[in-house]
Amino acid sequence: NWTMGSFIEQTVAEVREKVGGRRVLCALSGGVDSSVAAVLVHRAIGDQLTCVFVNHGLLRKGEAESVQEIFRDRFNMNLVYVDASERFLNKLQGVTDPERKRKIIGEEFIRVFEEEAGKLGEIDFLVQGTLYPDVVESGTATAAVIKSHHNVGGLPEDMRLSLIEPLRWLFKDEVRKVGEELGMPDRIVWRQPFPGPGLAVRILGEVTRDKIAILQEADAIVTEEIARAGLDREIWQYFAVLPNLYSVGVMGDERTYAHTVAVRAIYSHDGMTADWAKIPYPVLERISSRIVNEVKEINRVVYDITSKPPATIEWE
Ligand code: XMP
Repeated sequence: NWTMGSFIEQTVAEVREKVGGRRVLCALSGGVDSSVAAVLVHRAIGDQLTCVFVNHGLLRKGEAESVQEIFRDRFNMNLVYVDASERFLNKLQGVTDPERKRKIIGEEFIRVFEEEAGKLGEIDFLVQGTLYPDVVESGTATAAVIKSHHNVGGLPEDMRLSLIEPLRWLFKDEVRKVGEELGMPDRIVWRQPFPGPGLAVRILGEVTRDKIAILQEADAIVTEEIARAGLDREIWQYFAVLPNLYSVGVMGDERTYAHTVAVRAIYSHDGMTADWAKIPYPVLERISSRIVNEVKEINRVVYDITSKPPATIEWE
């Protein structure tokens, strides 16, 4: 009988044998797959693994701190944390086209990652959190590119490292079980999917520091309230979007002219199709009133009631 425990034991043994005394690199995104892969490899080879986490300045509230706390403090892993926000935001200045944003972020990510990897000396292996469905999919290269998905963790081809893909026989639910078995916290194991380009594709039009800060606050409220309502496992993704839209409101005796925020929450199995989530009204009400009360730059909250297709999950 195949258990997660025996999977872990067997994988640890295989990784040890493959790596020997050499060194391994990992691009940590904080996502479920790369995180579980990293912790699994760390269990096998300890300090021979170095993880690089690039903060592109487009993360959710508290995310950068949380990743460092979990991997460095709790799991005692070698973690190189790079705050490259400035670089990314400079590159994004004046850019409004979604695909250009993705391209810029993807390219800059690789540049930063390569620079950091270059500082580490001799490395022979790279960990990737490839899952079984990815293995199958990449064998059939479907053509229609609707959005160029630059996964953070996508890698320069000329780095010539051998891959270690400890999750390549697993499905997502099995990866979560492995993560739990490895003692990883729920906020990683049950983390919702988050796009590589991060909040850049949730801020329509130009990305600025101010808009990022506003969106982070609103998004944190959505996350908290969905979790508090116990909906965080059944809803596939839930987040806030800043459509770059201003409208008139009233606060006390004052007329306001401020941002609208859109709340997006969907049910899905694989992200390919999605249904908008039928969140109970009282939960929506709490989300809305907290956002307008706590984020002064926002005076209106709307709920996106579109499924995919025809809409996509992200707004860009
Ligand atoms: P869409 O918006 O195309 O999203 O319905 C489908 C799933 O993919 C995620 N997504 C991305 N992930 N880089 C990523 O790594 C991207 O550029 C990107 N765009 C969308 C989205 O969050 C959803 O889970």
